[in-house]
Amino acid sequence: MLERVAEIQTQAKAEISAASSSAALEELRVKYLGRKAELPQLLRDVAGLPPQQRGEAGRSANEARQTLEALIEAAAARFEAAEMAAALSEDDVDITLPGSPVEAVGHHHLLSATRREIEDVFCGLGYSVVEGPEVETVQYNFDSLNHDPAHPARARSDTFYIEGGGEGPDQTLLRTHTSPMQIRIMEETPPPIALIVPGRVFRRDSDATHTPQFHQIEGLLVDEGVTLADLKGTLLAFARAIFGADRELRLRPHFFPFTEPSVEVDVSCFMCDQGTAPGGERCSLCKGTGWLEVLGSGMVDPNVFAAVSEHGYDPDTHQGFAFGLGIERIAMLKHGVPDLRFFYENDLRFLRQFG
Ligand code: PHE
Repeated sequence: MLERVAEIQTQAKAEISAASSSAALEELRVKYLGRKAELPQLLRDVAGLPPQQRGEAGRSANEARQTLEALIEAAAARFEAAEMAAALSEDDVDITLPGSPVEAVGHHHLLSATRREIEDVFCGLGYSVVEGPEVETVQYNFDSLNHDPAHPARARSDTFYIEGGGEGPDQTLLRTHTSPMQIRIMEETPPPIALIVPGRVFRRDSDATHTPQFHQIEGLLVDEGVTLADLKGTLLAFARAIFGADRELRLRPHFFPFTEPSVEVDVSCFMCDQGTAPGGERCSLCKGTGWLEVLGSGMVDPNVFAAVSEHGYDPDTHQGFAFGLGIERIAMLKHGVPDLRFFYENDLRFLRQFG
């Protein structure tokens, strides 16, 4: 048996060193070490030998098996590295290279582009940009903003309340507007301040001009001696930067719980002349009125200052104005987008028009 083991070992070594691939090695592993191979069979036969031969025969067969295993393993490791290198060089894809054909770099989504455009206008006027929490409390979203306990926006049919989100003023909800940041900012920063707050807001609404989630930009300026004329001048600068240098503004009386007086602001239509389109027909954008409603605003209500009076806001010495605009609405007006839902469907044929 010792001789046979030596023969097998010599033959196997020669074949292993001649093998040219990991597949060939695998065949040799089966041939010499597999279940039906001769060497393992010899090992099993050791038990049937006379006791005085067993020790040496067992040892030599075992050593031969270990030697072959080690040789196959070492050769396989060499092949594996070489085969991997070959596969990589044959099939190399440099993911840092531009595609073929070259794809243009993408561009901002129309809503991001519009937000940034509006931010630029206000940054140019000296405003800072801040963001705030999308999950708010009843206190910040309604109470501190002077909402009547029976205000309709508080209803569960209008607003997303967080299940298990507490009760009373601390109850959590998805903010329905960016206005709660007026309070949070004034709690943190003494006057004078001038800030805008872009962000997502949420309402239980869904049709061609309403989606449950949309975007607003809040504006808040507080200082001494601020008047409605400052508000109008600021918004006129905004309207002209966004809709064209010839624009005019119209303020209409309105109601918001946290501003007094409150106004809705219209911009003169940029598609027509006072409601009449260039062809003589009624303008389809402003529906012939000559005006486009763009935002809500007003002078900060003294009751709102009262909610933050311990932070340096005294209604007797300070005034301010606030405004809130819908980013979707501005983008729709400016680019003639007929349905709000296009913004969220991610259809590239729509989005690529605004690159
Ligand atoms: N928060 C109001 C809304 O969502 C808009 C607004 C903001 C009005 C600031 C006045 C002042 O409708």
